[in-house]
Amino acid sequence: MKAAAPQRRRVCAGLAGDVVEIGFGSGLNIPFYPPAVARVAAIEPADLGWKLAGNRLRATTIPVERAGLDGQSLPFPDDSFDAALSTWSMCTIPDVSAVLSELRRVLKPGGTLRFVEHGLAPDEPVRRWQRRLEPVQKRLFGGCHLTRPIVDLVTEAGFTITELDVYYEEGSPKFLGANSLGAARSA
Ligand SMILES: C[S@@+](CC[C@H](N)C(=O)[O-])C[C@H]1O[C@@H](n2cnc3c(N)ncnc32)[C@H](O)[C@@H]1O
Repeated sequence: MKAAAPQRRRVCAGLAGDVVEIGFGSGLNIPFYPPAVARVAAIEPADLGWKLAGNRLRATTIPVERAGLDGQSLPFPDDSFDAALSTWSMCTIPDVSAVLSELRRVLKPGGTLRFVEHGLAPDEPVRRWQRRLEPVQKRLFGGCHLTRPIVDLVTEAGFTITELDVYYEEGSPKFLGANSLGAARSA
């Protein structure tokens, strides 16, 4: 939690306008939404997450609505949002390419996806551990993948990366803390 706060602050910093957040969880990003955010459409399948977000939802002045249950199929017309946010959700969602394609559809032209995600490490020795440990990780942590090539997936979906920092998170084992924090523009 401690290590995550500065990363949440950084990834949320550039958000503005109407925002869709994929894998909203318990709303841990709420305190970091900048005042330029007009409203947030939260996409989260787990009722428990939404319930746990209660205090944070009450504490913010930014309107946040639980607007959908599945990032793979978003209930919005094309070109609805200025920005999208995903923090440590692309590891878990079964078809992450479907999510990215949906985000491209619902973002306005020039809209921004901001993300911080763990995934495939930059170094081969760490990648070997990730491949070994992934089956156990998936079983124990609700389908969480360790080897997703986040930046490639974002680029293959048609986004253009505009900011990127790839690093190992302090205090996390490298196989789990190979993070990509960045922003990508939708055409
Ligand atoms: C590791 S948690 C991260 C939660 C939150 N983004 C955070 O930073 O604390 C992954 C989240 O993705 C959600 N999730 C799983 N499948 C999903 C889907 N198909 N669409 C949207 N969210 C999904 C999970 O319920 C969970 O809340």
